[in-house]
Amino acid sequence: MPSVLPDGEPAPADGALPASVLDGAEDRAFGVYVHVPYCRVRCGYCDFNTYTASELGGGASQAGYAAEAANELSFGADVMRRAGLPERPVSTVFFGGGTPTLLPASDLAMLLARIRDEWGLAPGAEVTTEANPDSVDEAYLATLAEAGFTRVSFGMQSAVPHVLQTLDRTHTPERVPVVVAAARAVGLQVSLDLIYGTPGESLADWGRSLDAALENAPDHLSAYALIVEAGTKLAGQIRRGQVAEPDDDLHAEMYEMLDARLAAAGYDWYEISNWSRTPETRSRHNLSYWTGEDWWGAGPGAHSHVGGLRWWNVKHPRAYAERMAAGLSPAHAREILTEEARHSERVLLETRIRDGFPIDALSEHGKQAVAELIADGLVDGRAALGIAGAERRIVPTLRGRLLADTVVGKLLR
Ligand SMILES: C[S@@+](CC[C@H](N)C(=O)[O-])C[C@H]1O[C@@H](n2cnc3c(N)ncnc32)[C@H](O)[C@@H]1O
Ligand code: SF4
Repeated sequence: MPSVLPDGEPAPADGALPASVLDGAEDRAFGVYVHVPYCRVRCGYCDFNTYTASELGGGASQAGYAAEAANELSFGADVMRRAGLPERPVSTVFFGGGTPTLLPASDLAMLLARIRDEWGLAPGAEVTTEANPDSVDEAYLATLAEAGFTRVSFGMQSAVPHVLQTLDRTHTPERVPVVVAAARAVGLQVSLDLIYGTPGESLADWGRSLDAALENAPDHLSAYALIVEAGTKLAGQIRRGQVAEPDDDLHAEMYEMLDARLAAAGYDWYEISNWSRTPETRSRHNLSYWTGEDWWGAGPGAHSHVGGLRWWNVKHPRAYAERMAAGLSPAHAREILTEEARHSERVLLETRIRDGFPIDALSEHGKQAVAELIADGLVDGRAALGIAGAERRIVPTLRGRLLADTVVGKLLR
């Protein structure tokens, strides 16, 4: 089952935002995230806030979900207007899950139309949905493209059958090229999600998955090391000795192989776990999370951030449905980030992206750590020195990407 929510201060029932969110709002982009908390089968490694039909119990229905989420979008636009925030058309929209594509395509189209009606979409807005490879076909994708979606992110994970099986994935490797071609045919950009370090996966298996991913020539790729989340089926299997524990050294070798193969195929990393064929095909939505823009997250358990205020919704679809039916804010709790917390978060997130973090914005202590980080080969010396008049920035080397926690630890110590 999904993990529990953090506690924060209570969130007001009418969703009212404090005046502090207005500071600098004109200069921040605005995005919308819509969470769809349903999956056909739960993968044994996943603790995202998602429910299969048997996990859901009574009081919430997948069929009624789109209407509830649409209500929250209208509620959100109203809350933002009441707070006096400037009118900002939406630059990026992301439907994530769970499995957004378990809903009929017409539901996703309706939700996008609601976002457009409430806030307007900026010219060239990026509109993405996640999709499991066996949850869509060309007709489905065509409906999304007609509705204004620009991008689809497929959960490929691996091309090796025994790895997909250990992960409890329901698709076969052959399904991926079929849906990638279908997405292309209707004009959608394609991203592929991969996982490495699955128990039983060898370096050769990982190489096969990378080759297979690259054969699809995606516009964008994300690759994450498998995290063993407490309370998942996978964690139980490892505890009982039924599957091997992930090996950190193998993870590092896999990351090095990943980076080398993608670079050779013409993809540039722009965040530790993300590669893009061109700067234009980076995920602008994900970048907005890492660079502290504003976003409204709709749906059970979704997180929002506006100008240093963060809140998160009630987690269970039944509690969410009840709040929406009563016309109440679905927020469970919220926190206003202190200056110190905002600084730590910026360092944590921006030292993971290729554009890096400005050295001038580091604390005195952080500035003093830079020389040692360069000497240890963790930070790019040229970027840190600001060669050719460029701003001095912290950009991790390959070794720094592998040891990202060490870099952040030294900068914040
Ligand atoms: C939560 S899923 C939602 C999209 C879709 N349902 C799917 O599985 O592709 C988004 C991504 O998170 C990844 N993910 C979930 N749990 C993970 C874990 N424990 N370790 C690494 N990646 C994980 C999934 O594999 C997937 O690529
Ligand atoms: S399909 Fe995606 S969201 Fe659903 S359980 Fe699997 S990884 Fe998690």
